[in-house]
Amino acid sequence: MRNMNILITAGPTRESIDPVRFISNRSSGKMGYALARAAARHGHAVVLVSGPVSLATPRGVRRVDVITAQSMLEAVRMHWDWCEVLIMAAAVADWRPRNPSPIKLKKARMAPRLELEPTPDILLALAPHKGARLTVGFAAETDHLATEARRKLKAKRLDLLVGNDVSRTDAGFEVDTNQVILLTADGRPVELPLMSKDEVAERILRRVEELWKDSRR
Ligand code: CTP
Repeated sequence: MRNMNILITAGPTRESIDPVRFISNRSSGKMGYALARAAARHGHAVVLVSGPVSLATPRGVRRVDVITAQSMLEAVRMHWDWCEVLIMAAAVADWRPRNPSPIKLKKARMAPRLELEPTPDILLALAPHKGARLTVGFAAETDHLATEARRKLKAKRLDLLVGNDVSRTDAGFEVDTNQVILLTADGRPVELPLMSKDEVAERILRRVEELWKDSRR
């Protein structure tokens, strides 16, 4: 099989409240970085768009650092023509403060009332321009995993959705293990056992390579 150009996003985004404070989430970036490592190991060309994480850049991977959902969208757009596969493993913040303060807010004043607005949805924004690309999304859920996963697969026009139950302590955010289901539009969900994020990455990548081969037939 010919090697692919794979764009991977990883980690959280940060949305400013003021110059020293932000809204974010518990993503450590481990799953996205494991995917980037696996993809490079398979010989693919990999660009990793990374939110703020404390992980080393995998060998053979080109890393682009971003902070906010907006800057992640711009970085993905910048590599859109280049990529043949997009894997959105990033936990993009869903909301951001509507009017971030340019100066540090002082504690002695009244606690600020944060007004939030939605951030751009990267997968939704790019879905109409998908072309022949394969797109892979993640769904981190605490309840109704299977239903939510199917809804997101459809809504975001994904070829593959990786769903995980983040209410478990051994899967999802921050830990080194994950337990996921793989969902494609046509097939039945495949439930993988609890395994290391490196092994999960390997399985996801193999599935992407199969889907890629099928889509070229
Ligand atoms: N995602 C995205 N842009 C956003 C938010 C999420 O591209 N602004 C991507 C994530 O990277 C992930 C997928 O969409 O691959 C699903 O993310 P998730 O947060 O689970 O879904 P939401 O669409 O935010 O739905 P909800 O808040 O209803 O769970």
